[in-house]
Amino acid sequence: MRNDFLVFGAPAIEQAEIDEVVDSLRSRWLGTGPKVDRFEKDFAHYKGVEGGRVAAVNSCTAALHVSMIAAGLQPGDEVITSAMTFCATVNAIIHSGATPVLADIDPRTMNIDPEQVEKKITPKTKAILPVHFAGRPCDMDRLVAVAEKYKLKIVEDCAHAVEATYKGRAVGTLGDFGCFSFYVTKNVVTGEGGMVVARNRKDIDRVKILALHGMGKDAWHRYSDKGFEHYQVVECGFKYNMMDLQAAIGIHQLSRVEQNWIARQYVWRQYRKAFADLPLGLPEEPEQDTRHAYHLYTVFVDAQHAGIDRDRFLDALTRLNIGVGVHYLSIAEHPYYRKRFGWRPHDYPNALYVGRHTVSLPLSPALSDKDISDVTDAVSEVLGQARIAKVRAL
Ligand SMILES: Cc1ncc(COP(=O)(O)O)c(C=O)c1O
Repeated sequence: MRNDFLVFGAPAIEQAEIDEVVDSLRSRWLGTGPKVDRFEKDFAHYKGVEGGRVAAVNSCTAALHVSMIAAGLQPGDEVITSAMTFCATVNAIIHSGATPVLADIDPRTMNIDPEQVEKKITPKTKAILPVHFAGRPCDMDRLVAVAEKYKLKIVEDCAHAVEATYKGRAVGTLGDFGCFSFYVTKNVVTGEGGMVVARNRKDIDRVKILALHGMGKDAWHRYSDKGFEHYQVVECGFKYNMMDLQAAIGIHQLSRVEQNWIARQYVWRQYRKAFADLPLGLPEEPEQDTRHAYHLYTVFVDAQHAGIDRDRFLDALTRLNIGVGVHYLSIAEHPYYRKRFGWRPHDYPNALYVGRHTVSLPLSPALSDKDISDVTDAVSEVLGQARIAKVRAL
């Protein structure tokens, strides 16, 4: 057993990020400024879109919220999203004033099932919010076809999927809006942080206004050396702007995004090899013509095969100093949503099954070969002990 605790999702921070943050501190320009500008330009370049189509914000939750307002959603409009996602996806829909509607997932990909989406469409449906779960692109051809058929907007939740592509196109550029997260465990990290990519420049202009109190676009530069400008409030916005301190980290994280992707792909392959003969369900390999972002490596633990249930497996790995995660309990299991929307977990059986049987193992680019073998040894040990206990009980 390893001596220290292997933290789940610890980011790979290098000297360049540290120096850039120190540079921001020394310059005493901490808030939104030239580094946010640069981070936006770098991100747009990475995604292959023009600079005027991205806006940095302070979380993916904020990105989703302002995107849905910019998409023109009104109270009473319905937005269909995945029954297997982080609560932020659903909360952002509620905060935008719209009503969330859940569609079940394909249990193999853990992504929203386009057939279930179509079944949930009503005259009130105005948007679809697919989540590229664990970094695996959704079936966008089918979702776009549904959106076109019913004239719906698409807001992509790309919190897990910075590097993912679908048929050669970057995720986040396939719908009307793409929303990214730079939270501490994500593939590109700024501490807290997010980004919106929009199909139209005018939508990004609105996103920028909404993200800074509703002040006219030029307010972003009001403390710069470009000359004093009065700002005008043109609508009631939010305080969602990214700081230079955050962008300072993001600029260097983004410059290593491909290197880190290769490092996580390596971990994924090591796990696949090590677990091939164990009584676990392993994640599907990426679909043809797509690029998986390798954000989460989730194994299925079914007591019937593994001899141990999911929650005991989580406890046992934690006791062996391996940090693990659950992504996620299905949305309809949470009491708030059940009470407010009358959702029942068994109405989304695939999301329920995934939420009750999956465990996410460490998949950080910061993992060493020793860390990886500590994880694979610990998993084998837990399953080996479960097997012995089962034989003894016979
Ligand atoms: C699928 C999904 N959507 C949205 C979010 C929200 O991201 P943020 O923490 O940047 O607001 C997360 C964060 O974990 C997420 O996993």
